Amino acid sequence: MQETIEAVWKAFQADLDSFPTDRREVDSLKSKYFGRNGALAKLFSQMGKIAPEERPGAGKLINDLKKELTEIFDAKSAELFYNAESTTENVDYTLPGETQRIGTIHPVTKTLKEIKDIFKSIGFMVAYGPEIDDDYHNFTALNFPQHHPARDMQDTFFIQENVVLRTHTSNVQIHLMENTNPPLRYIVPGRVYRNEAISFKSYCLFHQVEGLVVDKYISFADLKGTLEYFVKRIFGNDVRMRFRPSFFPFTEPSAEVDIWDDKRQQWLEILGCGMVDPAVFENVGYDPNIWHGYAFGLGIERIAMLKYGITDIRLFFQGDKRFLEQF
Ligand code: PHE
Repeated sequence: MQETIEAVWKAFQADLDSFPTDRREVDSLKSKYFGRNGALAKLFSQMGKIAPEERPGAGKLINDLKKELTEIFDAKSAELFYNAESTTENVDYTLPGETQRIGTIHPVTKTLKEIKDIFKSIGFMVAYGPEIDDDYHNFTALNFPQHHPARDMQDTFFIQENVVLRTHTSNVQIHLMENTNPPLRYIVPGRVYRNEAISFKSYCLFHQVEGLVVDKYISFADLKGTLEYFVKRIFGNDVRMRFRPSFFPFTEPSAEVDIWDDKRQQWLEILGCGMVDPAVFENVGYDPNIWHGYAFGLGIERIAMLKYGITDIRLFFQGDKRFLEQF
């Protein structure tokens, strides 16, 4: 009996020397000694085999062994447990916390804010108008001839026979002039819709900022100067821009402004503009012999594309976080 007890003790000593660090291994070591079929249980089971007069002495020995092994084992695993706990003590509390991820400002919103800030700083007010409008405000009052191609189903989303999703923010020129006496100086941001071929630079939905200035002595020089000033503020003084003659039914003369796109190595149109056609003034009851004005309509996505080097307009409308997170 004495030898068996000593053998258990020795084996235990050896296991202590290579005490495991893994919790599951500690558990299996525990059952090796203290489990139902463990070494101690086996010792107790041998009690029946020894002579009755030796039993009390042997029992005491085994009990003492059990007590000792339990103490050592508990201390050892507590040490392990403590070490595991103490790793939390190594945390560097001066490290910055994990940042809460919040949304980002959409590049169209960001660009629009810049555009508004620039025009507001030179005396423009901001107005808004309807996205769903009648044919009269979107086309007729803007001097579109009755059979102009822009009215046909190719370009325009019709809601009813005479109701359209506006194809430009120019409809608000008419609403403004119908409701306000001159002089006026407004920008009008908003969504516009076109039923046209989708490509890297055209989408069925996009955003414009309309500009309308009406006063007694307004010339094409005012238009050019204002737009040049705007372009330099939004793109910086090194920007390459050009005015290109163009046509719109509601302005005469008309022009478009192109910006050199370094990324694509080509010109990209960002706006249409011109002097308000006298026929438009007549339609809203302004005397064209007294009042003159200019108007422009710029594309927000196009400006954002140039500013941020975005090569496909469709990205603005896909809600892809990988794209949006970059702004
Ligand atoms: N409405 C025109 C367009 O959508 C742009 C424009 C606005 C042109 C104002 C001239 C004056 O293309």
